[in-house]
Amino acid sequence: MNFKDRYISLQNKINYQLENYLDMDNFEHLSYSQRIIDAMRYSIFAGGKRLRPILLISANSMVGGCMEESIPLACAIEMIHTYSLIHDDLPSMDDDEYRRGKPTNHMVYGEDIAILAGDALLNMAYEIMLDNANGYLDNINNHLKAMSIIASASGINGMISGQVADIMYQDSSVDSDLLEFIHRYKTGALIRASVLAGAILENIDEALIESIEIYGNNIGLAFQITDDMLDITGTFEKLGKKVGSDKKNKKNTYPLLFGFDESKRRVKALIEEAIDVLEPFGDKAEFLKQLARDIADRQS
Ligand code: IPE
Ligand code: IPE
Ligand code: MG
Ligand code: MG
Ligand code: MG
Repeated sequence: MNFKDRYISLQNKINYQLENYLDMDNFEHLSYSQRIIDAMRYSIFAGGKRLRPILLISANSMVGGCMEESIPLACAIEMIHTYSLIHDDLPSMDDDEYRRGKPTNHMVYGEDIAILAGDALLNMAYEIMLDNANGYLDNINNHLKAMSIIASASGINGMISGQVADIMYQDSSVDSDLLEFIHRYKTGALIRASVLAGAILENIDEALIESIEIYGNNIGLAFQITDDMLDITGTFEKLGKKVGSDKKNKKNTYPLLFGFDESKRRVKALIEEAIDVLEPFGDKAEFLKQLARDIADRQS
């Protein structure tokens, strides 16, 4: 199967599984919770590239894992990512009106429900991962490691510290180390966790895990540098969000601090290294290598 077909086939599988998890029939107390489930479904099914779940499944299959075991973790990471987007768009955060081509969650459901929809998605992610681990008691240690990686990357030692620094320093300038910290944590942490959690489900050598970690770190930072560039040069039609959000909020970005040429050069170097470190995996790494190349060229 060529790269594009494989990507679409994985997206379809993830969407199908997310649909199973978020089926209205699964929930109790619908007279109270119908609206929040609508709000959760609204943002999850608004679109989205499904990059993180695809990374998790692909890293897992590169090291010999099977999708049946990894797809619940993949859906969980997409729920965590989607919660982070709902909260990131709130008036008290980036105050954005569009996401995934549609009005943001709070524009449709109100801030109160949007906050709770984010909270509900975050908690549901852990419920799904724990239930899944319970079905693989013979591999429970690896499941615990994967969940711990995801929890740590989403929390105060990961994404949240990046988001806090992003907000703390808007309106004031930062040096390159702090800018790199913000990008590696607010966005890179979850991307790195996606590949690491997928890989750690299988018993593989420490050296191979380290290669996958470098791959994840590099594509995570490269992904946010391109996000910064697309916020200036992208289009609403392709991105599904309004451009100019960073300027509006006086955010610190790579193009602002380093200019476009240097930002592009950094992305290229990060991606080249990410591709090189996957050499030990041979042909099995082809899909992840192409995903990395696509991050450098992405328009959406
Ligand atoms: C957007 O992530 C937020 C960032 C971390 C830059 P994506 O660009 O992966 O958004 P979706 O999931 O495709 O909507
Ligand atoms: C988002 O960074 C990081 C998280 C959502 C955790 P941005 O604020 O740059 O993402 P967009 O541009 O709104 O998608
Ligand atoms: Mg933000
Ligand atoms: Mg934002
Ligand atoms: Mg952005």
